[in-house]
Amino acid sequence: MKFFLDTANLSQIKEANDLGILDGVTTNPSLMAKEGIKGKAAIEKHYIDICNMVNGDISAEVISTDFDGIVAEGKYLAALHKNIVVKVPMIKEGVKAMKWFTDNGIRTNCTLVFSAGQAILAAKAGAKYVSPFIGRIDDTGWNGMELIHQIRQIYTVQGFKTEILAASIRNANHITQCAEAGADVCTCPLDSILGLLKHPLTDIGLAKFLEDAKKFV
Ligand code: G3P
Repeated sequence: MKFFLDTANLSQIKEANDLGILDGVTTNPSLMAKEGIKGKAAIEKHYIDICNMVNGDISAEVISTDFDGIVAEGKYLAALHKNIVVKVPMIKEGVKAMKWFTDNGIRTNCTLVFSAGQAILAAKAGAKYVSPFIGRIDDTGWNGMELIHQIRQIYTVQGFKTEILAASIRNANHITQCAEAGADVCTCPLDSILGLLKHPLTDIGLAKFLEDAKKFV
């Protein structure tokens, strides 16, 4: 399973990249706004900065909702850097646009996916990635991880090549469960990735080893 970072924060991207386990980055309009990035030139520079930091796929999201607008925006984003994947919302015009991008050699990440039916449409449109939002499903009292299992089953049975990119990750346990469910990619906040490191027995064991080492060095 590939690890993507779900952020537009450059210092967090650097920290995850320095760990040596980062395979890509996903952004969205909310994450870009959180970093205070405003205006076409600043947005363009930010995406290029991320692409130059990470050797992997970088999702940049369109904000148009009509076919012509999505296609124009996606062409512009894809031309910024070879690492850019155009993130397109799961709406009717988005499906049409994703098929156009597929036919024209531009890779897409279908976002805001909350059902298996939507994941089937994304695969039929040739999306490179489909992004089911686990945490937001959990927030509504349903089980987000069940959707990952269901999409995995459908894609395997049907032979769809679209990669399952589990998104809206809330904690380290989500990452482990995504790996178990057969997600191809997990896009995570940095805290959730660092949470994988933690185990009290590791800390206790290391303290004991270091204490005992004093006896022979
Ligand atoms: O980037 C899409 C997704 O990961 C958003 O997550 O935490 O806003 O539900 P969240």
